[in-house]
Amino acid sequence: MPLVNAKEMLTKAKEGHYAVGQFNINNLEWTKSILLTAQELQSPVILGVSEGAGKYMCGYKTIVGMVNGMLEELGITVPVALHLDHGSYEGAKACIEAGFSSIMFDGSHYPIEENVAKTKELVAICEDKGLSIEAEVGSIGGEEDGVVGAGECADPEECKMVADLGVTMLAAGIGNIHGKYPENWAGLSFETLDAIQQLTGAMPLVLHGGTGIPADMIKKAISLGVSKINVNTECQLSFAEATRKYIEEGKDLQGKGFDPRKLLAPGAEAIKATVKEKMELFGSVGKA
Ligand code: 13P
Repeated sequence: MPLVNAKEMLTKAKEGHYAVGQFNINNLEWTKSILLTAQELQSPVILGVSEGAGKYMCGYKTIVGMVNGMLEELGITVPVALHLDHGSYEGAKACIEAGFSSIMFDGSHYPIEENVAKTKELVAICEDKGLSIEAEVGSIGGEEDGVVGAGECADPEECKMVADLGVTMLAAGIGNIHGKYPENWAGLSFETLDAIQQLTGAMPLVLHGGTGIPADMIKKAISLGVSKINVNTECQLSFAEATRKYIEEGKDLQGKGFDPRKLLAPGAEAIKATVKEKMELFGSVGKA
């Protein structure tokens, strides 16, 4: 199945009280592991690409070519969206050109009026081209590609203002952060989430920083309208741990163990296991 935008899968998720995972990709192994797991579990999936990962993988066109090739060669039949993660205004336009099926415009660092103006312009372009668009209000904490946010809670009224622009989905800060959560993390603000969902109604809400959020908080967030959950760091940690084990056991020194197809295999399997665990937790298994 060719790439689809994220609208239908997220509308269904919101109605069905589950969430679709966005798993960020970093290279071919990542992409293949995520797609094969989604297919095996019959789950819809969103492949996330940050601007930094986009540069690393030789640009958006390279990524579109790789993903489209895999969908065909691996016989993927579940819905797959290719989504720009935390895009700048220029990055969003470049991804639309390159053939992504979904973009996020992160204008959360602009004053709200400027965030609204830029989001509105991109909504019109995405509508015209049949793409889905995610907007952000209230910055997500932690560091991602050098952008550091404090993990603030979004203003529900501002969320309503941005939701009304016709975006497909809305990321709102509710105390979540990217990367590992610190020991003294206060947890998600369900009060904020509840207020946002009451004002934004059927709009699918997005939870960033999915790594390390306890299962009960994930379930509660889904019950309060979260329909898309982003996971990046957790796949990186699983990949690194499995690769470390392979090398520490000296397997790269045995026979042809240095062959990248062998060396990267345990990491690729570890990503599959993490993606499976998340899809089961989010409730998207069998919803393709
Ligand atoms: P984590 O790296 O914390 O899983 O966050 C991913 C994310 O929100 C991508 O936008």
